[in-house]
Amino acid sequence: MTPAPARVLIDGDELRTGVARLGAELSAAYPRGMVLVAVLKGSVCFLADLVRFVTVPCEVDFLAISSYAEGTGRVRIVKDLDTDISDRDVVLVEDIVDTGLTLTYILGELERRGPRSLEVCALLDKTARRIVPTPLRFVGFPIEDEFVLGYGLDYAERYRNLDQVVAGDLAALRAEPDAHVEELFSR
Ligand code: IMP
Repeated sequence: MTPAPARVLIDGDELRTGVARLGAELSAAYPRGMVLVAVLKGSVCFLADLVRFVTVPCEVDFLAISSYAEGTGRVRIVKDLDTDISDRDVVLVEDIVDTGLTLTYILGELERRGPRSLEVCALLDKTARRIVPTPLRFVGFPIEDEFVLGYGLDYAERYRNLDQVVAGDLAALRAEPDAHVEELFSR
């Protein structure tokens, strides 16, 4: 199966501009600082760039989750926070919000720990696919219903290290996870 060529949706310069804006928005909203909680692994590139645009004190912590079954929204925490977030201003940093199921689960978990405030900062927002209404206070880029790769986002652990966000051919990737490798990495 020949994949449709990957298409650049957001190039490196656009990413930097969007992430800088989010850093400025966070800094303005939390003059006394905040705890950024990033969800592994997809948010790593975003978080690493974002913190360098935050101009107030901020702490960083990580959560890792694993899905029980794709599309069910049932997830469990496989690496928990080291930080006690009770009475703290917390911002959950997500790579992409698609159906909103994962985010809703994580927000519920964090809310039970009694943060002073809890908001979401998402790089990409696929609004058309939302099943659970999810308030996103800080959004980098709204995108169409496309399967995206790069800047932390993967298919079967590939493509995370692209410095741009591309739309991939999901049917071709399902048949062959390396479907876009030659085209995207042999330049
Ligand atoms: P949700 O629970 O449907 O909102 O999706 C949650 C997770 O699915 C995200 O955090 C991503 O890890 C993954 N995901 C959703 N859409 C995409 C995509 O287009 N590319 C890569 N991963 C995605």
